[in-house]
Amino acid sequence: MLGSAFARTALAPALTPVLTAAPAATDWRTREDNLASAYEAVAAARIQLGLTEPVQSRGKRAKQPADLALDAGVKSYRRNDRSPTAAEDIPRGPCPGAAMPSSSPATYREVRLTRRPEGELTPDHLQVVTFPIPDPTPGQVLVRNTLMSVTAVMRTLMRDETDLPVTGYAPDRPLWGPALGEVVAVNGSDAGLVPGDLVTHRHGWREYAVGDAAEFQRVDPAELPDPAAHLSQGFTAWLGIVRGAQVRAGDTVFVSAAAGGVGTLAGQFARLRGAARVIGSTSSERKARVLVEQLGYDAAVIRGAGSMEDQLRAAAPEGLDAVFDNVGGEQLSAALAVARRGARIALIGALDGQLSGGFRSVIEVDSGSLILRGITVRGLSGSDHLDALPEWTKEFGQGLRDGTLTFPHVRVSGIDQAPRALCDLLEGRHIGAVLVEL
Ligand SMILES: NC(=O)c1ccc[n+]([C@@H]2O[C@H](COP(=O)([O-])OP(=O)(O)OC[C@H]3O[C@@H](n4cnc5c(N)ncnc54)[C@H](OP(=O)(O)O)[C@@H]3O)[C@@H](O)[C@H]2O)c1
Repeated sequence: MLGSAFARTALAPALTPVLTAAPAATDWRTREDNLASAYEAVAAARIQLGLTEPVQSRGKRAKQPADLALDAGVKSYRRNDRSPTAAEDIPRGPCPGAAMPSSSPATYREVRLTRRPEGELTPDHLQVVTFPIPDPTPGQVLVRNTLMSVTAVMRTLMRDETDLPVTGYAPDRPLWGPALGEVVAVNGSDAGLVPGDLVTHRHGWREYAVGDAAEFQRVDPAELPDPAAHLSQGFTAWLGIVRGAQVRAGDTVFVSAAAGGVGTLAGQFARLRGAARVIGSTSSERKARVLVEQLGYDAAVIRGAGSMEDQLRAAAPEGLDAVFDNVGGEQLSAALAVARRGARIALIGALDGQLSGGFRSVIEVDSGSLILRGITVRGLSGSDHLDALPEWTKEFGQGLRDGTLTFPHVRVSGIDQAPRALCDLLEGRHIGAVLVEL
């Protein structure tokens, strides 16, 4: 267990060397040629900075450049290819209102699920496929994606039945997810968007996206100072802290999976709401140090390093007032045991069961004990709280501008590396959100 006073160190400057470690890719061939060395350089820089776990520390051999070529089976289709997976869903035909700029490439790449994983996800469950760039039909826009995020829930979306309030992934179909891009063609004058607009949308995992204009939201530069922050999981973090755990001044707060995309921001929002002590859980001493030294946590507990309840009791001798739980399992059981009278528990994720494919984390609950301590347990799904989006955006934007909040994230370069980036995230090899530059 680690402990220290709150350090309000911004993470962004520490990440600058990471962002510049990857060679700039100007065309796809150059990018493919450079991918192995780029990934290695970024991985080395992240390990140096303590933001990524070396693979060996988790009992596996280090990735070799040769592995990188094997990770994404790149398959190409020509424009007239009639393969069953070749673009039945891509609109074709003349499109006078939406001529592509002459400098645009003719093809783009997207990532598809090859088969549903049973247990651990590996990069060969995903495939990078090349397709002709579609023409937008009337009312549609074509967007060149520049950045997308990978998140833990994407593993859950690969299940046959997810129970989640969104559409799951299917074999031989592209994945989807949050992305940022630039409008390059618009078909029709009433789309409300023009070429050059920066937009956010859900058609990630592909270099180009086409869809109805209403599916793309123009980025308002007045909202968040960094467009990449639109891909953060800050809304979930804010929701769990503000509406779920209802963190108040003086609270002692526990955030499980504190080093992830959601957890790194949950700790910061707890602090902004006046928490006196913020404790996070993670999986290694190295990540625990980053939580305490760079991400504003006062103490960290480590899963797998002895009883979670004992570690939490030591970190919070007076008990917990508020809990933001991403994990379930032993961590939730321990948090409930250490919760004080009147504590508020927000259930946000079930990583304990999620990462091997389920969305269940079953624990034993002593209801009598919860009643006697007046403890509130509340599950929250972002889709039930969309009314809070403006409030979150305002608070997040203001915090990023005045330096009281940072958006901890790492970047991986190139769509070929997106499958590996997701696997690495699920293995806990990153800290903060994981973004892929497309
Ligand atoms: N309720 C909602 O509306 C909502 C919305 C978005 C996301 N979520 C949920 O929020 C949670 C966090 O999502 P995220 O994208 O930010 O993921 P994440 O925390 O960035 O990534 C997953 C993390 O899980 C930890 N982990 C790995 N194996 C584990 C295990 N066996 N037991 C416990 N933890 C393990 C690792 O962290 P360490 O190595 O540090 O332990 C890893 O970094 C997920 O459950 C997601 O579904 C909920």
